Order: sequence, then C-alpha cells, then structure tokens
Amino acid sequence: MNTESIHIALEKFRALIEGQLDRVERMKADGDFTDYAALPEIRIGICGGDGIGPIICTEAERVLRYILSDLCESGKVRFVPIEGLTLENRIAHGKGIPDDVLAELKSCHIILKGPTTTPQKGSGMPNIESANVAMRKALDLFANIRPVRVPEEGIDWVIFRENTEGAYAIGNSGFNVTDDLAFDFTVTTRQGSDRIARLAYDYARKNGYGRVSIVTKANVIKTTDGNFIEDCRRVAAEYPEILTDEWYADIMTAKLVDKKRRRDFGILLLPNLYGDIISDEAAEMQGGVGTAGCANIGKHYAMFEAIHGSAPRMINEGRGAYADPCSMLRAVVMLLSHIGLQDRADKLARALDICTLEEKKLVITGRPDGATCEAFGNYVMETLEKL
Ligand code: IPM
Ligand code: MG
Repeated sequence: MNTESIHIALEKFRALIEGQLDRVERMKADGDFTDYAALPEIRIGICGGDGIGPIICTEAERVLRYILSDLCESGKVRFVPIEGLTLENRIAHGKGIPDDVLAELKSCHIILKGPTTTPQKGSGMPNIESANVAMRKALDLFANIRPVRVPEEGIDWVIFRENTEGAYAIGNSGFNVTDDLAFDFTVTTRQGSDRIARLAYDYARKNGYGRVSIVTKANVIKTTDGNFIEDCRRVAAEYPEILTDEWYADIMTAKLVDKKRRRDFGILLLPNLYGDIISDEAAEMQGGVGTAGCANIGKHYAMFEAIHGSAPRMINEGRGAYADPCSMLRAVVMLLSHIGLQDRADKLARALDICTLEEKKLVITGRPDGATCEAFGNYVMETLEKL
C-alpha cells in the first residue's frame, strides 16, 4: 500500500542528491577570494529588509557612508539601493529571493542587509524559504562569522558557523512520505567542511587565537558530524601551534555559562544549526542579540547583517524608532575589515565600545525611555569625529 509513497519519496531524494552533487562540483571548480583592493569600484548593495530592518539598516548605511565619504567621492565605493527584499514582494513571487532582486544582489560585491521576516510553516503565510538562507546559498556565503566580546569577563569568542550545509542545505526540501512519516535532511560535504575550517584556523593564526574548539553532536549524528570533525582535524594538523579540542553541542551550551571555564574559549567552529543556536546564546552574554552582527563570507560575495530577526513586535507596538542599530553597526565593522579597511574598522569598533560600554551617554532600551536609533547613530558619528 505504501509502494507508491516510497517511490515518490525516492524520486524526491534522488533529485536532492543530484542537486548536492552538482554543488560539490561547483565547490571543486571555485576560484580564489575576490581581491577588493584590485577592484576599480566596490559596489555595496543595501537591502533594508522587514520589521525594524529598514530602520537599523538605514542607520548603519548612514554611518558607513560617513566613514567612507572620501572613497564614495573618489568613486572607489558605490552604494546600490536594492528594493524588493521585503516580505510582501517575496510572498508575491513565492520565493526566498525574487529573481530580479537576486540579479541586483549579484551585481554587487558586498551586501549590507537588514533582518528579514521568515515565515514559519503553519503561520498562515506561504511557506517560502528564509531570505537569509536563500542568499547564503545563492551567493555561496559559506562562513558565518559571529564575534562576541565581554571584555570585563574575559570573553573574546569568534564563532565560525558553517553557513551553507548541515540542516540548512535542503532545509526547505524535507517531505512527508506518508501522513505519518516525515523526513528532513542534513548534508555535509568534504569541500564544505574543509573551507570553513580553513577560514577559522587562518583567522585564529592571523589574530593570535591559541585555541579552536570544534562543536558537533557526533556521538549521535555520526555520519555528517563525524565527517565534519574528520575534515576539521585534517585542517587542524596544518596549524600545529593552535590547540584544537572537540565538544558536543549540549555540553558546550552549558560551558558557555560556566564563568570559570568560558574565558578559555577562543574560536568555536561548528556546523550550521549548532552555530545558529550557540551564537544566540553567546550574544545574550554580550547584552542581547541586538548587540551582535555577523559576516557571511564567500569567495566572490560577502553579506553583513544582524544575527537577530526583524522584531515585528516592536513595529506592532509602535517602538520601531527605538530599535538598537548596534548589531548592524558591528556588522559594518566586519564589512570594513573584509574590504581591507582595517584602520577604519578598528576606529568604528572603538567608537562602539565607547558608546555602549564606557561613556554610555545615550542608551538604547527599545522603548521611549531610551534613545532613538537615529540619535544613537548621530552619537556614534560624533564619537568617531573625536577619535
Ligand atoms: C540567523 C537567523 C536565521 C538562521 C533565520 C532567520 C533563518 O536565526 O541568522 O541566525 O537560522 O540562520
Ligand atoms: Mg539565529
């Protein structure tokens, strides 16, 4: 009686395998990282997103334009507004990213993106793929780098989350085989694990981190997580000066709240889903997800965003103007560093530390008792002016 259901499921599975094998071939054929210094013009696409996205993204863009004003004038940097990555437009096209928006994204080298709303199954909205996930896949942004710092507690972590594989690779392509039986899939490739591990170890070496902790659930998810560990170990062998240790994701979430142990961690290297979860936990220690930005790095494109969502509740309650732009501003720090402007990145990081940790002349609370997003942007620029 189930023969037909099994046959249909096998055909779906075959298509998924073929798609992933094609992806492996594309990774094998991929070239080197873009050299931004050699480009005549760096095009920075700006996508506001949904909810508080356009508010905090506008502020981040304003600060970024201020920092890059000389390069905008000389024509080395060009800002490209990209409309159309809104929930309404994505629903109208039934896609995580409408085709014309994807073409605009691909015409840029760098994207600064506000949070986008991800419809969940059963929410009443069409079940389209998350725009973040779609963009990470379409632009092959394989590394999601999420720094978390709490200087007074000795916390200085950089999370290297694999960004195109694991539970996310075909997260939208799971299926019900029968009314009772459903499958989702987790995907790991040798190439995918190798490239994220290389980036993490390179970063550790260049930035003086003595320790990389690989985090999986390889005691249960034996094949994909097992391969991830094997590939990371192979890369680790090329960096003998760096200590490598291995953790299961459950005990790692516990150790991150252990005040005595957590200051010893440096780089965390994880498959996609564990990286998603652990980076929210880590960001909370820094003052909340609203304070954390991230870099999504690929060889030919890079996208910078907040680690949090679009906060529709803030908009519904009329509090959008009080949204915290710090996540996006921290993402701008990473953007500047990625295009080779390390001095300017350091200066913005310093200004943000002054504004949020030291001087705190304005404080964002997300409510009218705190500063507005725009006032905070002005505060950051005034602080930059003094540095
Ligand atoms: C993140 C977010 C996304 C993710 C969501 C919005 C799909 O939580 O960037 O961490 O799961 O990757
Ligand atoms: Mg997340």
